[in-house]
Amino acid sequence: MEYPKITKTPFEQFAIKPNLQDYHKMGEKFSWDKISSDLDWFDHEHINIAHVTIDAHLKTDRKNKKALIWESKKGEVEEYTFLNLSRLSNKFANVLVKELGVQKGDRVFFFLERVPEIFIGILGALKAGGVIGPLFSAFGPDAVKDRLADSEAKVLITSPALKKKIVEVFPELPALKNIILVHRGEAKEDPNDLSYDRLMAQASDFFDMVKTRQEDYAIMHYTSGTTGKPKGAVHVHGAVLGHYATGKYVLDLQEEDIYWCTADPGWVTGTSYGMFGPWANGVTQVVYEGGFSAKYWYSFLERKKVTVWYTAPTAIRMLMKAGDELPRNYRFDSLRYMCSVGEPLNPEAVVWGEKTFGKAFHDNWWQTETGSIMIANYPIQDIKPGSMGRPFPGIKAGILDDNFNELPSDREGNLALRPGWPSMFRTYWKKEELYHSRFKKGWYITGDKARRDEEGYFWFVGRADDVINTAGHLVGPFEVESVLIEHPAVAEAGVIGKPDPIAMEVVKAFVSLKDGNDPSEELRHDIQKFVMKRLSSAAAPREIEFISSLPKTRSGKIMRRLLKARELGLPLGDTSTMEEE
Ligand code: PRX
Repeated sequence: MEYPKITKTPFEQFAIKPNLQDYHKMGEKFSWDKISSDLDWFDHEHINIAHVTIDAHLKTDRKNKKALIWESKKGEVEEYTFLNLSRLSNKFANVLVKELGVQKGDRVFFFLERVPEIFIGILGALKAGGVIGPLFSAFGPDAVKDRLADSEAKVLITSPALKKKIVEVFPELPALKNIILVHRGEAKEDPNDLSYDRLMAQASDFFDMVKTRQEDYAIMHYTSGTTGKPKGAVHVHGAVLGHYATGKYVLDLQEEDIYWCTADPGWVTGTSYGMFGPWANGVTQVVYEGGFSAKYWYSFLERKKVTVWYTAPTAIRMLMKAGDELPRNYRFDSLRYMCSVGEPLNPEAVVWGEKTFGKAFHDNWWQTETGSIMIANYPIQDIKPGSMGRPFPGIKAGILDDNFNELPSDREGNLALRPGWPSMFRTYWKKEELYHSRFKKGWYITGDKARRDEEGYFWFVGRADDVINTAGHLVGPFEVESVLIEHPAVAEAGVIGKPDPIAMEVVKAFVSLKDGNDPSEELRHDIQKFVMKRLSSAAAPREIEFISSLPKTRSGKIMRRLLKARELGLPLGDTSTMEEE
């Protein structure tokens, strides 16, 4: 079904003008130098994300403005001004440098719940010149180990509860020198632990920030591919130009805004738009510690008087599922702008947003690798429900054939971008070759399939690879298969994404068993639990199908394509490379 364009963004009632006034004019005149002149550099080549996002505001009226309003799962509230965050992050930088000997370029990783210390810690580590790496608190020991081992992280900041989950992997991490525990009064302190509270109490709140260069590494986010373990996409301090510009012109962040990004800091959206972009724009952010709850989320939007809200399609579909009655109990008068990212936003969800909140969700597209929003719907433009919108001014996006030549409008192909924007990843950590393989004929190949219409709007078609997108989490089938075959009953495993009305895709595993094991419900649950514990609940197969053997190529590679075609009842295609029975 064709959905009509949504032509209005009802801003008039807020007496506010969108930051972006003329899309085409901005595109023509766009220069990153101009964007950069809005930001506070130390000098023409030194910039630090923590300075731009926090300390720079201390010279302005924003010094005592609230930067972070945090609400715990129990409803406790903590508020931090830009000045508070500056001083606390100075203290943490001192802890890292003076107490633990952290040097520029050392990896400092965070395996922490969504608590204020993750924000303070990340800012402090950036001030110290460290390369930060946040990990999802839902990860299990294998997922954490792979990332800490690959990055050779020197310091880990975690909590007593999360440490307990991963304690078995520490002996396999020789580079990990220090573990700092954030107790938040929850657990008794062990004098052998490095306690965040104790270290912070002794640290000075003056710190001479490390004068990093634009191209110095700052952020690492692990992301999944078709083959191999997750790889660390590395971003530089100069990336903050991209966070700032897209925060301003896509999320339309303005001085008086109360902004809520629902993404976890373990995900790139949680750093680019849950920390850096909004704070570079001097905006107040609200953060809720807990996960999804339709009732709580509506109440949070109302109570905090959220004006700009950045969320994800699965969450929107879960709100839709909770029914149209529930939101009628709340008032959303303050809410003026809503955006969504991470998976395709179905047109029904856009229309539902308009019906429920009086305004539509603005979908946008980007990736861990791109570091900031690349394609977006803007407040001043019509929305075509189901489309991701148009390239950010200054960004050139193209649709390429399989030989990497550009295709005309309305043809499906590989979505590609012309490299050169500041928040673009600079490498995959210690995987240079893989990094270079993502560039062809002067384009960065995104791995997504898409099409562009006559009016320059982009439409997502699907992934060009086997990576599964479940509720916005990218899951690499190889990572799941590797854990599955470690289960004592499993001989072989093949993993695919199975379409799902809420999460877009869920992980489905095809498993053959070792001799002496029979399929049973109990075994199915045991295997699911095994993956959940080792990796995460997102990666654990929602469905497991026992089969006697898996389709393989002659060289022994499991043919996921065939498994997927069978699952969807599609033609099996070319099976000539299959092994003979
Ligand atoms: O396949 C696209 C999908 O998510 C991938 C990027 O995931 P990740 O690296 O985890 O980045 C998270 C930051 C957004 C993309 O390659 N994706 C992202 N946004 C959209 C999307 N698919 C469809 N529509 C979107 N708006």
